[in-house]
Amino acid sequence: MNLILLGAPGAGKGTQAEVICDHLQIPAISTGNILREAVKNGSELGLKAKSFMDSGALVPDEVVINILKERIAQDDCKKGFILDGFPRTVPQAEALDAMGVQIDCVLSLEVADEAIMQRLSGRRVCQDCGASYHIDYKPSKVEGVCDRCGGKTVQRKDDEPETIKDRLNVYHTQTEPLKAYYSKTGKLVTVEGQEEVADTTALVLKALGE
Ligand code: AP5
Repeated sequence: MNLILLGAPGAGKGTQAEVICDHLQIPAISTGNILREAVKNGSELGLKAKSFMDSGALVPDEVVINILKERIAQDDCKKGFILDGFPRTVPQAEALDAMGVQIDCVLSLEVADEAIMQRLSGRRVCQDCGASYHIDYKPSKVEGVCDRCGGKTVQRKDDEPETIKDRLNVYHTQTEPLKAYYSKTGKLVTVEGQEEVADTTALVLKALGE
């Protein structure tokens, strides 16, 4: 199955992608994670992407399209994949079509902007293994220390409140039009994000017929 997860920043795409990945045994591909890794390694790609990401803007289409094309050509994607955070613009969706990729389902996670602000401003991530926490909903056992690997948990630069507002603007203007794009193909399914992660997961799996 080839699946796209759509949704505002912080709607819970990454959280649900992990669960679906376990359930369907297909890889979850997050362009955000690939880009963050590149920034961490100081590669040429990372240097190109950093300023866009820090300000909450999108990385240019041609850069992200090339990353995605290379990633889905890898062996582990033969049985299908979950795209988390791609496409983000209509030109990216058109590029995916031009690659000949057949999409089975586009799942849009709907969460109100106010809830997004709360979720993202409280998110902390491990700078070593990437595990994600929330200061209120899912705190690490010891504040500032990752439960999984003992690394330091930090706030992502783009999770600062002013930048979250910019990311939401970018979402509403550049990414939300994808709902109309995929609605025309009959592949769009909408799921209302719930207060509890497990409740959202139940709705997501039901929407996928699992
Ligand atoms: P990316 O990493 O894709 O960021 P994003 O879409 O902003 O996604 P997030 O990881 O912030 O949120 P999420 O929806 O996965 O939520 P999560 O599950 O973590 O991209 C970062 C940047 O890279 C972009 O801004 C852009 O610059 C660039 N980029 C990436 N892809 C690109 C592309 N295709 N084109 C151009 N540029 C691109 O959940 C969030 C929080 O909420 C967590 O703390 C979690 O614990 C909590 N939470 C989740 N679900 C629930 C729930 N049900 N109830 C309560 N809390 C919950």
